[in-house]
Amino acid sequence: MPGIVTCEVKMHQEVSPGHYRLVVHSPQLAGEAQAGQFCMLEVQAGLFPFLRRPMCFERIFKDSVSILYKIEGEGTRLLSRLTQGQTISIQGPLGKPWPLDESIERHIFVAGGIGVAPFPALAEAMIAKLGKTPEVILAARTESMLLCEEEFHQMGCKVHLATDDGSAGEKAFASEVLTRLNPGTGTMVHCCGPMVMMKATHVACEALGIPCMTSLEAEMACGDGVCLGCVVESTIEIEAERMVRVCYDGPVFESTLINWAAY
Ligand SMILES: Cc1cc2nc3c(=O)[nH]c(=O)nc-3n(C[C@H](O)[C@H](O)[C@H](O)COP(=O)(O)OP(=O)(O)OC[C@H]3O[C@@H](n4cnc5c(N)ncnc54)[C@H](O)[C@@H]3O)c2cc1C
Ligand code: FES
Repeated sequence: MPGIVTCEVKMHQEVSPGHYRLVVHSPQLAGEAQAGQFCMLEVQAGLFPFLRRPMCFERIFKDSVSILYKIEGEGTRLLSRLTQGQTISIQGPLGKPWPLDESIERHIFVAGGIGVAPFPALAEAMIAKLGKTPEVILAARTESMLLCEEEFHQMGCKVHLATDDGSAGEKAFASEVLTRLNPGTGTMVHCCGPMVMMKATHVACEALGIPCMTSLEAEMACGDGVCLGCVVESTIEIEAERMVRVCYDGPVFESTLINWAAY
């Protein structure tokens, strides 16, 4: 059972309209977490809301971790009221991390909106452990929803922007930008964002003949493989069911394991 730790809020600020960065002090989480894993936050002490909210690790520092989140509903709205010096109960780390494959020459991240959240930690891990600097496609509906561009530049990543309304970068879908980057043998794509974007990216990678890892989201209750509240349809059979648990079998999956036709 992953631990539950009480963490002090070191920093909490709005980084763009409706989007916040929370940094909490926790040598334990910082020591155990790997890029791609997530945690379950108790957004407010007490029984409401009853369930913790899943969030991935944006960055993993020496004695703290950061979380980048978007306000979706009541839980994230309550979370946004937390102030520096207060404490928050966090369960984790949970789930499987992104794989770090030494044989891959070129890594491309495809991030849609708040789906960028797990990528700064992955970029840092790749640079530190593989000596490889990824390229990043940042896509969003509009310019104000493009997050972390500066952080990726500081890490030395080449960043390609795409917006639906053309307010920044190309007026194009992320999967179109990906195809134009001409990824060939030796390339791996890592994708996180809305299901429709991950599906399009999976289809593009199939056509290009390159592997694609996707980080999925689902509503969660236990976060630890027990309640089956987070299953998604799969192409493989596990215990007579074509289902995988996002919290326990993922959230990072090879895209070929997901039955995209169902989404
Ligand atoms: C493994 C994992 C990692 C995540 N990491 C992040 C992150 O780093 N940053 C971030 O902003 N968000 C992340 N999410 C999504 C986040 O957990 C939800 O946005 C949050 O739980 C919504 O809570 P709420 O109480 O504000 O909204 P609710 O009132 O619970 O829901 C508001 C709306 O959002 C939908 N919703 C709720 N939870 C999810 C979900 N998990 N996936 C898709 N739709 C949902 C509901 O159906 C509803 O329409 C992650 C989800 C998972 C499963
Ligand atoms: S949230 Fe309970 S099994 Fe995934």
